Amino acid sequence: MRFFLDTVDTDEIAALVETGLIEGVTTNPTLIAQSRRSQRDVIRDICSLLEGPVSAEVIATDYEEIVKEAHVLADLASNVVVKIPVTFDGLKACKTLHKEAIPVNATLCFSPLQALLAARAGAAYISPFMGRIDDCGQEGRKLIEEIRDLYNYDHDWDTEILAASVRHPKHVLEAAHAGAHIVTVAPSVFRSLYVHPLTDIGLEKFLQDWRASQEN
Ligand code: E4P
Repeated sequence: MRFFLDTVDTDEIAALVETGLIEGVTTNPTLIAQSRRSQRDVIRDICSLLEGPVSAEVIATDYEEIVKEAHVLADLASNVVVKIPVTFDGLKACKTLHKEAIPVNATLCFSPLQALLAARAGAAYISPFMGRIDDCGQEGRKLIEEIRDLYNYDHDWDTEILAASVRHPKHVLEAAHAGAHIVTVAPSVFRSLYVHPLTDIGLEKFLQDWRASQEN
């Protein structure tokens, strides 16, 4: 499973890309709004920080407008992936953009059937929202398992499962076990993945013992 960052914080993206472990970035209208910058500027800045795919979401909801907006977003940088909700118009736009070789991240996925249709429409990525499903008392992990099962039946599909709305390390582990190809996480979640108190205690003890041996 690969790791993307779900953020518009360019300082964090630059710092974490340096680890070599981050292969893409996802954004959404809420994150862009919180940045108080234009989507164009934010996406251009992020795209300059890494070669991997950077998802930029459309605001339009009807087919013609989605396609028009997708063209503007795709022109911002060669690594832009256009993020489109899995609605009737969104799926239709996804099929059109697929024919034009513009990659689409089909977002706001909450059911296996939406994921099936997105794959048929040629989406490069499907984004099931784990956290928001858990918020409803259901299990995000199960949705990813179901999508993975369905995708395994048809090897013609290139759609990758991009686990989204990932709120904590347990979601990351569940996404990996369920067969997600990619997980997108906030920088704070990424930074929590390698932390373990026994690592810190063990390191401190090793260093203490080493320093003591050098004094003798
Ligand atoms: C990413 O593609 C999604 O927009 C994002 O992960 C949503 O996360 P949230 O449910 O925590 O807002």
